[in-house]
Amino acid sequence: MTEHLTRRHILGSGAALAALSASKQAAAGSTIRVYESGNYQDANGVTLRMVKRPAPKAGPGQVVMRVRATGLNARDRSLLRGVRIYGGAGEAPTRVPFDDNAGEVLSIGEGVTRVAVGDRVICTHFPLWIDGPWDDATMSKMDFGVNVDGFCAEQAVVPAEGLVKIPPSLSFEEACTLPNAGLTAWNAVVREARLLPGENVLTLGTGGVSVFCMQWAKMQGARVGITSSSDEKLARMKELGADFTINYKTTPNWHEEALKQTDGKGLDAVFNTVGIGEMDRSIRASASNGRVLVIGANPVAPSGDNTQAVGLKDFPRNMIMRRLRVQGVLVGSRRMLTDAVKAIETNNIKPVIDKVFPFDKVLDAMNYMESGAKVGKIVIKI
Ligand SMILES: NC(=O)c1ccc[n+]([C@@H]2O[C@H](COP(=O)([O-])OP(=O)(O)OC[C@H]3O[C@@H](n4cnc5c(N)ncnc54)[C@H](OP(=O)(O)O)[C@@H]3O)[C@@H](O)[C@H]2O)c1
Repeated sequence: MTEHLTRRHILGSGAALAALSASKQAAAGSTIRVYESGNYQDANGVTLRMVKRPAPKAGPGQVVMRVRATGLNARDRSLLRGVRIYGGAGEAPTRVPFDDNAGEVLSIGEGVTRVAVGDRVICTHFPLWIDGPWDDATMSKMDFGVNVDGFCAEQAVVPAEGLVKIPPSLSFEEACTLPNAGLTAWNAVVREARLLPGENVLTLGTGGVSVFCMQWAKMQGARVGITSSSDEKLARMKELGADFTINYKTTPNWHEEALKQTDGKGLDAVFNTVGIGEMDRSIRASASNGRVLVIGANPVAPSGDNTQAVGLKDFPRNMIMRRLRVQGVLVGSRRMLTDAVKAIETNNIKPVIDKVFPFDKVLDAMNYMESGAKVGKIVIKI
């Protein structure tokens, strides 16, 4: 490991010195603290416990990251309750949860040249998706927290190919929101919706992905609306730049309000972060040539009322007559994450963080997430 620490690394950065001392500890066979989920449940049905593991080592093409921040995403609610989100039988495998991540390169394996010890980095959600179209057969083999260990740990081993450097304007806490929520929203808004300035768009809810959709869409010059169950949260969204807001609890037929807000023309893009329960309204709210970006896949409306599921009778007709495009969105590639990071630097965008919890309070963070009180992201500082 020491041969990788050049004079430049050691003299150039305090982080590199910290990394050197930490890597010596690792070499000496020290342990790290990690959370595990899987074959274990507490009295409340939560599968999460802190354990010690040997400090990891970087193999060829790999990097050991000193994780400084991780965070929770919607799917973690299911994972921490032992739900196998992509199916599969039997006991859930033991995994370190969470895919949000930001940290420093602690050590590098053979052949790694993209990053150096001490670099501040994030690792993309699917580290095998570098660029080009998604290929499920090969790229889904690494999904942090699901089929490989994630980042709720003091250190994590990652493929160097998945890394992107953190811009100086972002803290670790801010940067860790990018590999999942920030990137998914980027893919939806910039890659798939291809928004034009002045277009009318609506994003659903004030969760991590939706708030990023609002920020990226504003950056693209669109006129942006956002929905929420809470007027208080909507007031915050106005402060953050929303052009119009709709409370979906007091206005359940929000598509009618969206039509009013656009002088009857309809929305050029709807970011459906919910799923089937809001699909029919998303389509009815759309303008000619509109795009509906499908991001959430909840099987029923969160209220449990599934009567607003896609109106199959009208669906093809609406699609044809308005020439709509319905597009599924799956997180994004390293190339997209690199572009998003550049946009953050150029446009001085700050991820919206609701609360930061310490490493020993991950359970509190999960309970807070389940309370529904938050806007944007919940982060764990490590
Ligand atoms: N396709 C992908 O690659 C991808 C990637 C990341 C996440 N996702 C999915 O995207 C969804 C959002 O993820 P997230 O991490 O942003 O979740 P999150 O932070 O937990 O936010 C969820 C938010 O959804 C809102 N909501 C619930 N029911 C709603 C409704 N009927 N209409 C409008 N908003 C509603 C709530 O907003 P209010 O509190 O304001 O009411 C809630 O805060 C999840 O289903 C997740 O699995 C997909």
